[in-house]
Amino acid sequence: MKKLILILILAAVSPSSLAAEATEPLDPVYTNLGNKASLQRGAKLFVNYCLSCHSAAYMRYNRMGRDLGISQGNIDEHMMFAADKPGALMTVSMPEVKAKQWFGTAPPDLSLITRVRKPEWVYSYLRRFYFDAESPHGWNNSLFENVAMPHVLYELQGVQRLTGHDEHGYPRFEMQAPGTMTPEEYDEAMQDLTNFLVYLGEPAKLERYKIGTIVMLFLAGLLVLSYFLKKEYWRDIHYS
Ligand code: HEC
Repeated sequence: MKKLILILILAAVSPSSLAAEATEPLDPVYTNLGNKASLQRGAKLFVNYCLSCHSAAYMRYNRMGRDLGISQGNIDEHMMFAADKPGALMTVSMPEVKAKQWFGTAPPDLSLITRVRKPEWVYSYLRRFYFDAESPHGWNNSLFENVAMPHVLYELQGVQRLTGHDEHGYPRFEMQAPGTMTPEEYDEAMQDLTNFLVYLGEPAKLERYKIGTIVMLFLAGLLVLSYFLKKEYWRDIHYS
């Protein structure tokens, strides 16, 4: 718990809060921890595109596999790029000092990102990267101006340019080079990724759902038993 609080405090005072925070409205996102297929797709995106820079230092690979129904073989083959033991924590091998040198600021741990920010924020952030020749790495983000993170998903989303904002403050983009996904597919993928990040923030939630179901089944069983017990008790009692 202490560690969690420390992370929250660090996140609040981290250099990222120095970058300009735009006050754009957020895109609504539907997350559902009961949707295993979505969580699995999100996990795949996460280990392939995010884990090289960001850690999720409270999550273990084998725990994730168990929770999301991903087999150990699948995890070994497709997900463990940064570790070799199934029980390893999802940390990154990039030293923080190097990260600071490269990006100006170290990529924060994403374990609690959907609690520090809202899921809607993360979803909007992932959709609003755009090409910006003025930026040192060529990318900018309309929700997080002068962000130090490059658009690591541009091959999927394509390369878009910011053309302005509409009357409600939503950014307007123009697609310059399409990606491998259509805009709808990209939005869905980002919904899966956000869903997975929500799961990372509270893996115990899945367990609670499971326990809740077991308890309800138990109570239902008890109800049936009590009914027959009642019948049994009253069987020989006749009113005349
Ligand atoms: C090449 C390294 C790199 C990769 C890969 C990367 N990021 Fe980042 N990310 C960064 C850096 C650096 C920052 C800090 C940005 C800043 O403070 O200006 C950051 C910031 C963020 C933030 C904002 C944190 C905050 O609240 O300040 C989120 C959310 C995020 N990344 C999500 C992701 C996701 C999801 C992926 C995978 C699709 C990803 N990142 C892949 C480098 C990376």
